[in-house]
Amino acid sequence: MTERIVILTGAGISADSGVDTFRDPNGIWAKHNVEDVATPQGFARNPARVHEFYNGRRRGLGSVQPNAAHRALARLEAEFPGEVLVVTQNVDDLHARAGSRNVIHMHGELAKVRNARTGQVFPWQDDLSVDSRCPVSGEAGVLRPHVVWFGEMPLLMNEIAAALDACDLFASIGTSGNVYPAAGFVAEMRTLGLAHTVEINLEPSQGASLFAEQIYGRAAETVPAWVDRILRG
Ligand code: OAD
Repeated sequence: MTERIVILTGAGISADSGVDTFRDPNGIWAKHNVEDVATPQGFARNPARVHEFYNGRRRGLGSVQPNAAHRALARLEAEFPGEVLVVTQNVDDLHARAGSRNVIHMHGELAKVRNARTGQVFPWQDDLSVDSRCPVSGEAGVLRPHVVWFGEMPLLMNEIAAALDACDLFASIGTSGNVYPAAGFVAEMRTLGLAHTVEINLEPSQGASLFAEQIYGRAAETVPAWVDRILRG
């Protein structure tokens, strides 16, 4: 009997809300250079450009809503008798706005900023600039988006590893399987051999063959149907 579920989500779960994915033909990485906007080196070279990129994405949160897939995962957490953890690579806040409570943002959150000197994290709704001041120290030029850039370690990896070790159902929803360590979770699950694994995506991901089960289609349709099936037992 299934008792602990871990669900990895990626940009595809928010696609039906109108949030751009990264690697689709019109995705974010087709319009922006990764090295410029998503690396520590890009930020050191031109912090204003990086702020502009994340300011645009942060502003965009105001015009999107959770979709049926986010809501289905919140319902799963509320109604499933065991534990449900969502580990998301997304920096949007749509899981929380749909009602999910047990969420780890392994790539950070658009609605937070961090003091790069002290590591303190603050909720943040406005635009961020090189002149923005730390709410605690008052210092300017030390705040950065609380997002993980390429070359940086994703957040809360120990908690994620413990949850993966303990789970008996692992689902990966809306991720292309290009970015590690998240892309490697399914291989870890296979090595442990204790959990059922399912990929739910628009199309087969890089690691599709590593999953025991595959479901393809739009997340707003496939995820509610999958959640119904889990809750029916
Ligand atoms: P990608 O853009 O790489 O992949 C999105 C996946 O979602 C693709 O496999 C699409 O086929 C699928 N997809 C698109 N529309 C969908 C829909 N309506 N329903 C279901 N699936 C759909 O995004 P991620 O895998 O999330 O990291 O990218 C991983 C990381 O790469 C991101 O967190 C970000 C990015 O660079 C950082 O910025 C550190």
